[in-house]
Amino acid sequence: MKITVVGAGAVGASCAEYIAIKNFASEVVLLDIKEGYAEGKAMDLMQCASLNGFDTKITGSTNDYAKTSNSDICVITSGIPRKPGMTREELIGINAGIVKTVSTSLVKHSPNTVLIVVSNPMDTMTYLAHKVTGLPKHKIIGMGGALDSARFKYRLAEALEAPISDVDGMVIGGHSDVGMVPLISHATRNSIKVSEFISQERLEQVKEDTKVGGATLTKLLGTSAWYAPGAAVSGLVQAIACDQKKIFPCSVLLDGEYGLSDLCIGVPVVLGANGIEKIVEIELSDSEKAHLHTSAEGVKKTNSLLDV
Ligand code: 2OP
Repeated sequence: MKITVVGAGAVGASCAEYIAIKNFASEVVLLDIKEGYAEGKAMDLMQCASLNGFDTKITGSTNDYAKTSNSDICVITSGIPRKPGMTREELIGINAGIVKTVSTSLVKHSPNTVLIVVSNPMDTMTYLAHKVTGLPKHKIIGMGGALDSARFKYRLAEALEAPISDVDGMVIGGHSDVGMVPLISHATRNSIKVSEFISQERLEQVKEDTKVGGATLTKLLGTSAWYAPGAAVSGLVQAIACDQKKIFPCSVLLDGEYGLSDLCIGVPVVLGANGIEKIVEIELSDSEKAHLHTSAEGVKKTNSLLDV
């Protein structure tokens, strides 16, 4: 199992680290355009191997895509992160060109790869990857929902004063401050609806805190987060690499599901060896349905800025 991660910045390096620590891949190639940077990160990470007990071989490369050849899974984290006060959508001008070049270069060397897009604005970058690579639609996955759901569970556990392992919840919709749809109606504490424990008002607060989860961290850190994004990517990569058939909300190309078409947006999917093995359609409350459709309009508006 060979995995490539493009972009050796904080998110890319964190992806490589979590993938290695989970010890399911034989090789991770880290690639960056900055001379020597990916090689340095790879060496530093490899020096954790004996300490953290993993056998995954991590190598670095300065923009040599030949080193990524025949990767089973490629992750794109390249591009600029947002600064405090910026929306993810504002990154499109610079990141679209980068994602176009990176995704076509990756697919040239790994025509059978599954592609995971992390670069922002993620739903639009995932749609762009579909337009420029020609990969089948089950092989392009945008990572946003897995991260947003982890942030949702963190906020739910905080509000419920419960351990996170007792809590379950999912965020669908666009990976943006306004577009995320935390599914309160499906959130549970050990299979009991969360509304049994806390007020509607507190749940609304959980929802709002979840939606600005990334922005809150960007304000605190001065740049966007990396630990949870890296951990979320490693979860998707492991589900595919180990054919786990796990359900994650991911940004995928829709063709009528949820009444939406010709865009990538977060919905629950089953992930296995073939990438997206199934799009799962679940019952939504009227307000969740309306929110998903408004979110889709926002994503389509951003997509219309693409030159494809
Ligand atoms: C986030 O932290 C990386 O978009 C990303 O939300």
